[in-house]
Amino acid sequence: MQLNSPRPISFLHLTNSRIILYGREIPGGLRRIGLVGPANEGRKRELKTAMTKVDPVSMLSDSVRVPFENARAMPPIVYTSEEFLDRETRDIFAKEWICVGRSSSLADPGDYLTYELAGQPILVVRGRDGRLNAMSNVCLHRMSTILHGSGNVRLLSCPYHGWTYNLDGSLRGAPAMGNNRGFCKQSYKLPRIRCEEWLGWIMVTLDENASPVSQRLAEIESLVADFQMAEYLEAFNENFLWNTNWKVLAENFMESYHLPVCHAATIGGHSKMDEAVCPPGRPAFNFHTILKDGSLPISVAHPKNVGLVGDRRRTTYLLSIYPSLLITLTPGYFWYLSLHPNGVGQVRILFGGGLAREFFGNPDSDRQVSELKELLIDVNEEDRKCTERVYKGLCADLARPGHISHLERPNFLFAQYLAEKVGGFERQFD
Ligand code: FES
Ligand SMILES: [Fe+2]
Repeated sequence: MQLNSPRPISFLHLTNSRIILYGREIPGGLRRIGLVGPANEGRKRELKTAMTKVDPVSMLSDSVRVPFENARAMPPIVYTSEEFLDRETRDIFAKEWICVGRSSSLADPGDYLTYELAGQPILVVRGRDGRLNAMSNVCLHRMSTILHGSGNVRLLSCPYHGWTYNLDGSLRGAPAMGNNRGFCKQSYKLPRIRCEEWLGWIMVTLDENASPVSQRLAEIESLVADFQMAEYLEAFNENFLWNTNWKVLAENFMESYHLPVCHAATIGGHSKMDEAVCPPGRPAFNFHTILKDGSLPISVAHPKNVGLVGDRRRTTYLLSIYPSLLITLTPGYFWYLSLHPNGVGQVRILFGGGLAREFFGNPDSDRQVSELKELLIDVNEEDRKCTERVYKGLCADLARPGHISHLERPNFLFAQYLAEKVGGFERQFD
């Protein structure tokens, strides 16, 4: 085959008319080494055979196997590779606990939400006994999805032929099935999925053997015990789809380095970067803290809050619960993003927020909620622009991962977590 580069090919990028060839370059980059056109399937197959495979998993583990003082951002290929996304889906999203919202969003029996977790349609519904039931959202007849969106139902009713299920997933009715001798209503029950409520968060996992959330995240419970996170009341939630890789947005949330610049028009001036503290990571999460100056009154403790003392009254926790629950917990309000990949270049986002209990039930609370929501909409828009620009940049031929600041320690910890989950790296904790 006639190639316009003698160097080993590691990666192919198929455009509308051409195949771009890349070779591996350390640290963490791919170098464009040639072009072939026109791009047809036969040529692509031949080139694939000639490739010296770039393994994004080993590129990531190479990049995190350095002291933090020398650390760089993750290699671009871990954000753009379909193969890496498959590994994340299999090893992370199909195994870890994923947040699908706040418990208060499913307060009453019949309240439900639907979610696609690692490609599996699931539903979560509050049962008549007050417990949450998570189960497959695939009908046991001819396998239609059953519920869509969120809302309140009396029964789970399939929109195709009308089979109905009780809120615990047992089959309740199936019209015109009496002549099938093999059909036994009692033997049909939607497969259950594990679901736990933890400090007001609804967590689900496809892994039957995953250790309980309360065990995994016990350290967070003691870390922020005086905040009483379970008591914060959600006032709004929405779903977004942004054009960036899920990790770009997760990383954006877990560092406050970008606040003064990306958020100059909103919250950038409310916190001092020299007071940010980025402690070592823990197995299931990382966090950092910043101190707020009180220019936004709900970001510091309410006078009625006697549980928080000293600097804790103006401390904000930025909690990154692996893989994708990102919580900003201030003494007066909270907000969060829960992320799920939607292909390599898109992320599904559940966004919500609300106030600490002391701020509710007073004449100002409605105004404070709407001001908070307006502020966060502006903040999100700033983050959307920044993270979509990063994804565009990552996809460029000349994208190279640079060194990171001490304020981006959580990003390095997150990269190590990912490298461990997809294989090839083992984290050490004290
Ligand atoms: S597929 Fe659900 S009732 Fe037929
Ligand atoms: Fe941000």
